[in-house]
Amino acid sequence: SGCPMSPQGGGEVKARSLLGRTNKDWWPDALPIDMLHQHGVSPDPMGDEYDYAEAFQALDYAALKADLTALMTDSKSWWPADYGHYGPFMIRMAWHAAGTYRVTDGRGGSSSGQQRFEPLNSWPDNGNLDKARRLLWPLKQKYGKNISWADLFILAGNVAIESMGGPVFGFAGGRKDVFASEGDTFWGAEEIWVNEGAQTRLSEDMPELEGPLAAIQMGLIYVNPEGPGGDPDPLGSARDMKATFQRMAMNSEETVALTAGGHAFGKSHGAKSAPHFKSPSSEAVHAQGLGWLTDSEEIGLGHITTSGIEGAWSNNPTKWTGDYLRLLFKYDYELTESPAGAKQWQPVNPAPEDMAPDARDPNKRVPTMMTTADMALKMDPEFREIALRFRDDQSVLDDAFARAWFKLTHRDMGPKIRYLGPEVPEETLIWQDPVPEGVQPSDADIAAFKDAVLASGLTIGQLVKTAWASASSYRRSDHRGGANGARIALAPQKDWPVNEPEQLGQVLAKLNELRGDMSLADAIVLAGSAAVEKAARDAGHDVAVPFMGGRGDATQEWTEVESFAWMEPQADGFRNYLKTRHPVKTEELLLDKASLLGLSAPEMTVLVGGLRVLGANFGDAPEGVLTDRKGQLTNDFFVNLLDNETFWDLVDTSSDEEFIGYDRGGRHEKWRATRTDLIFGSNSQLRATAEVYAENGHEGKFVRDFIRAWVKVMNADRFDITNKPISS
Ligand code: HEM
Repeated sequence: SGCPMSPQGGGEVKARSLLGRTNKDWWPDALPIDMLHQHGVSPDPMGDEYDYAEAFQALDYAALKADLTALMTDSKSWWPADYGHYGPFMIRMAWHAAGTYRVTDGRGGSSSGQQRFEPLNSWPDNGNLDKARRLLWPLKQKYGKNISWADLFILAGNVAIESMGGPVFGFAGGRKDVFASEGDTFWGAEEIWVNEGAQTRLSEDMPELEGPLAAIQMGLIYVNPEGPGGDPDPLGSARDMKATFQRMAMNSEETVALTAGGHAFGKSHGAKSAPHFKSPSSEAVHAQGLGWLTDSEEIGLGHITTSGIEGAWSNNPTKWTGDYLRLLFKYDYELTESPAGAKQWQPVNPAPEDMAPDARDPNKRVPTMMTTADMALKMDPEFREIALRFRDDQSVLDDAFARAWFKLTHRDMGPKIRYLGPEVPEETLIWQDPVPEGVQPSDADIAAFKDAVLASGLTIGQLVKTAWASASSYRRSDHRGGANGARIALAPQKDWPVNEPEQLGQVLAKLNELRGDMSLADAIVLAGSAAVEKAARDAGHDVAVPFMGGRGDATQEWTEVESFAWMEPQADGFRNYLKTRHPVKTEELLLDKASLLGLSAPEMTVLVGGLRVLGANFGDAPEGVLTDRKGQLTNDFFVNLLDNETFWDLVDTSSDEEFIGYDRGGRHEKWRATRTDLIFGSNSQLRATAEVYAENGHEGKFVRDFIRAWVKVMNADRFDITNKPISS
């Protein structure tokens, strides 16, 4: 299933918390800097005035690229470049920065520079990448505000590929740094890392990777290089690769291109049995944020241990060649162990010219190697067919690698309009979810359409629900979804159960009939906003809902159905919708959705309270509709929820999802509600916010706050107008 929150193995529901194991669990003694950032104080030293897009446009891009190219071969004695070239090291850093992305919830990825912070900074799989970032520091320092770390990681990867003769498809800047660990990502619930024996997340008993994860063991970017759970089984590894790369919206062709292309370069490090390394977060203060420390003499000799696997894949590890695939298929490989004790594969009787240079001594030749994951490309029938095609035609591999690398490193940036810089490719790609430019409708057309919609017979609930369904598909994690494009009218969104396909079809047909030249995307939002205005008016508040038109309509042809399928909401607390019971509490799923929409707790609260009384519930269910004047924008939800004369109880003891509100005196049923409703009375922080909206004198504030939060969601994906004022 495409369920981003699916229970492990698709079987019995195993309860877990929304965020699983967090930084506080891993490093309880870490300096609690968060305490300085309460009450709306930001950890971002750049301040609100800093406009990264503007700063990036002022960057001397050519000079930075020239400096990066020079850096690749400027070996430093404190961490010498293997073969005199840092290129492969920089590619691994960029790949690991981007490779945490998962299409399930759009989180992870390179777009905010998270590799600098825990937990990623200290993940076993990111071993020694702290050095790669330190090597870049002089250039980060030199170009300062004009290049973010996040952009620099990816650009360094691109320049590395170019400087070794590899193909690139382009580069776009626009990744703005954050200055603290992002605390909203579930990385897993395991209490130990991969190198301490964390269990593998996929097996015959567990055929599906736990949602929304994209890695096979805690602390890995994707798969275990030694094979599933350390077992050198190439076919098992192929299964794991397919499962994990698919979570990043990569197909088998892209998976083979990336792995074969990536391992054309560089080497693995497992020269010595690893001492008990400490990661950056656990090292002494005088290590200055570096971890995995190795004695400087050993470093000089090239005795480095990172993954524990030892050796290069190719005889030309700093040149873009087809040697990786040539060697993979030319030789039989036998299982062996690295000096560090890792399982790996070595070619049988390699010819001298097929040996690799030593990382420190170009005159010395050493055998090449393959990891179990590399062997998967040869042993799995589907991978093998693709790999042989790439081996036999280098230009096909060139194109496939360049495109897949571009996708890997730009997947989480959202639509093309967010791309910056002189190397943005002309070609539009389907995974960028393109939307044609729209036109702002005239004031007269807007007014006429609003009148027509309100007279059309469609209910307030239907109009609000349709606009919400369209706009709330947005997620800020990878900037996908949203009202622009009206993809709600296209597959797969039009058929998602949460969108009540039959009713949605009727509403869209009516809007199409009335909209004239206006885009459907604009019509959906405008109709919803007209309904909110009417509902406010009927409650005695004459207010305007600001509307900014200009959305375009996407086409089915330019909609990647498979990658949109991952975005289907399994729960939407704003519509009181829950597809099936989840390992995570239903109110946590509401929080997750609010977080993906970029909402604050007051915004989430006011939206839930408002949407309930407007009649936006899935299937028009009665739960949470705590009003007897449905369709009017009142604060009744909060007033009735906090009424001391009501007491709540389970509908029946077999489930804690549904509740009845009884009148204390007469003990007769007054209301129905779900966990998502009652959390606003039970959680102390949400209750404090709900109280504000229930207070006398705050009826107008409730309406204004609702409209502000509503407009925020409607415009969440309007990157084309972000800097323009919104008019009403
Ligand atoms: C290095 C595994 C995919 C690029 C490594 C290392 C391992 C590994 C174990 C050695 C790390 C060390 O000890 O220093 C894997 C696995 C993959 C995968 C299991 C997926 C199944 C990729 C991809 C790319 C890539 C997609 C880039 C497109 C590199 C590069 C190095 C490397 C360039 C060499 C780094 C250096 O020389 O310092 N990989 N990798 N890998 N990987 Fe991968």
